[in-house]
Amino acid sequence: MPSPGCSTCKPPARRSPAASFCCRGCGPERVAASRSSTDWREARVSPDLDDDLVDAIRSVVAGEPDFVANCANAAALLFERLPQVNWAGFYILRGEVLVLGPFQGRVACVRISLGQGVCGTAAARRETIVVPDVHQFPGHIACDAASRSEIVVPLLRGDRLLGVLDIDSPVTARFSDADRLLCEQVARLVVDASSD
Ligand code: SME
Repeated sequence: MPSPGCSTCKPPARRSPAASFCCRGCGPERVAASRSSTDWREARVSPDLDDDLVDAIRSVVAGEPDFVANCANAAALLFERLPQVNWAGFYILRGEVLVLGPFQGRVACVRISLGQGVCGTAAARRETIVVPDVHQFPGHIACDAASRSEIVVPLLRGDRLLGVLDIDSPVTARFSDADRLLCEQVARLVVDASSD
């Protein structure tokens, strides 16, 4: 079995998962295969990851109009295939509050008001927010103490806000412009496929 981490960081095998994420130097590395809770750091690079991921999500939501089901499968694929991610999921707008929806990762806060935290701010502004260092974001809500960077994409159907896609990483500045485009594409796929 290969050593976890990249050739730069090579974390010891017995470190806790939260402490053994790869260093920033392995940012470009891409996970090519599914991972279990113990082997995910060992997955290898695939330059076609983003295209493959978009194709997989497009295919899993195709013909399925249920919004929650589509969020659930998208969250599973994002978490399974994106490297250096410790939480991927959705908050769904219920009235004026974002309520925890389908996700993969550690237990998270259930309700976030519009304007609160990264999720509520992205929802209120109706724009993607990429946070390179969550400790520098005033009002950031820490669901997993391991999280260092985050991206939140609003789910919009026209002017109507349906919720947000939220992805966290234990690596500072994990999310690039390419990741932003990828996440926005995923958000669009989920919204467009779903009828609610
Ligand atoms: N960090 C988010 C809260 C949700 S968790 O990251 C899953 C925020 O500040 O809105």
